[in-house]
Amino acid sequence: MSSRPVNPVQHTSSQNGGPAKGRPTKRQYVRFAFYKIDPLWRRLPPEEQADQKRELSETIQNFGRRMLLRPFSLMGTRADAELLLWQIAESIEPFQQLATAMMSTRMGGYLTLEHSLLSQTKRSVYEIKDPSGEEREQLIVQVTDAKYLFIYPFVKTRNWYRMPLDARQVVMDEHITVGRKYPAVKLNTTYSFGLDDQEFVVAFETDEPADFLDLVQELRETESSLYTLRDTPLFSCVRMGLDQALDSLGGPAIAVEDEPEEAREVWVEVGPLDDFAPGTTRVIYLDGQQAALFNVGGKLYAISNRCSHARGPLSEGAVSCDESDNCTVVCPWHYAKYDLATGQVVDGIASAPVAKYEVDVRDGVIYVGRVPQIEAI
Ligand code: FES
Repeated sequence: MSSRPVNPVQHTSSQNGGPAKGRPTKRQYVRFAFYKIDPLWRRLPPEEQADQKRELSETIQNFGRRMLLRPFSLMGTRADAELLLWQIAESIEPFQQLATAMMSTRMGGYLTLEHSLLSQTKRSVYEIKDPSGEEREQLIVQVTDAKYLFIYPFVKTRNWYRMPLDARQVVMDEHITVGRKYPAVKLNTTYSFGLDDQEFVVAFETDEPADFLDLVQELRETESSLYTLRDTPLFSCVRMGLDQALDSLGGPAIAVEDEPEEAREVWVEVGPLDDFAPGTTRVIYLDGQQAALFNVGGKLYAISNRCSHARGPLSEGAVSCDESDNCTVVCPWHYAKYDLATGQVVDGIASAPVAKYEVDVRDGVIYVGRVPQIEAI
C-alpha cells in the first residue's frame, strides 16, 4: 500500500523501539492556584450564592478547551485555602486569562488567591527509570484519577548544587528506591527555577493518604533530606467535580448527580474553519482530555492526542493517506500508527486504540465533541 505524506513531521528518532532521541522537547506550564472565600459571601442570600456559583462555574469551564483543569477542595484540610484549580497548559497566557475572567465574576469579588505555584515540566538531570527499565517521559503531566493530591513547593540547599552530578545521582538513587516502595503514590515533579519563588513543585496523587504519610516519613531518613531547605506549606486536596468543589464552599448545592464523565456528550467550539488550514494540526482540550484535531486536505479528524503506548503527542506525528483516502498518523515517539477516522491501531507497538472524537462544522465554526465509544487515554 503506497501512501502520500500530508503533513510530515521531522523526527530524528532511533528505529530500535526505545525512546526516540529526537522526540519533542515542548514543555507544559503548570499552575496550582489556591483560593479562599470571604466569610461575607456566606452571608449572602442562598439564591444569590447559587447564582454566583453557577456564573463562576461556567466561566471556569469555558477554559476547559484551552488547558487541562482539575478542581480540588481543601475544605477541612487547611486553614488558609479552600479551593484549588490545578491548571496545565502549553503557555502562560491561559492562566492569566482564566484568573482575570474569574475575578471579573461576582463571586470573584469574594475570592482571594492565597497561594499560587507556577512551574514547568522538564526532563530530570538524574537518571530516573521505571521499574520496567523504561525512561519516563517527564515533559507531559500524566494526571491520574486519584482521589487525593498532596502538593508542596520545594527548595534544596545551595550545597546540594555544589556536589558533583554523579554524587547527587547516588543520593537520588536512594530517594528513588524509597519512592518505589509506595507504588500507590504517583509523583509529579515540575520546575520553578526563575519562574516562581520555589525551585520545584511536587504533587503526589494517590487514593491512599496513609501511604503518602509513610513515604514522607521514610524519606526524612534518607540522605537527600539533609539537602532540603524548604518543603512547606503542604496542601492536602480532595479531588471532585468543579460544581461539587464550589458547593463545598457553602451555599445551596448547584452540582447535579452526574452521570459518569465518559457517558456525557460534550462539545467544544474550536474556532473558524478559515483559520485552520489543510495540512495543519491543533491541540484542544475536551473536558480535561487533550485531543488532536487534524485538517487533512480539507477533511477534519479528531482523536486523543496521547498515544496509548506511552502518551506520545499524536498531534506531532506524520500524517499520510492511501489511495482510498484512509488516513493515518504515526506517533513520533515509537511509531505506532493510528487510523485517524477510528482511533484504531493499524501498525506498531501500541496495543490499544485511542479515543476518537466527532467533528462538526456549523456556520463556518469547528466543533469537536465526545461521543464515547472507547475510553479516552
Ligand atoms: S508513545 Fe510509544 S508509540 Fe507512541
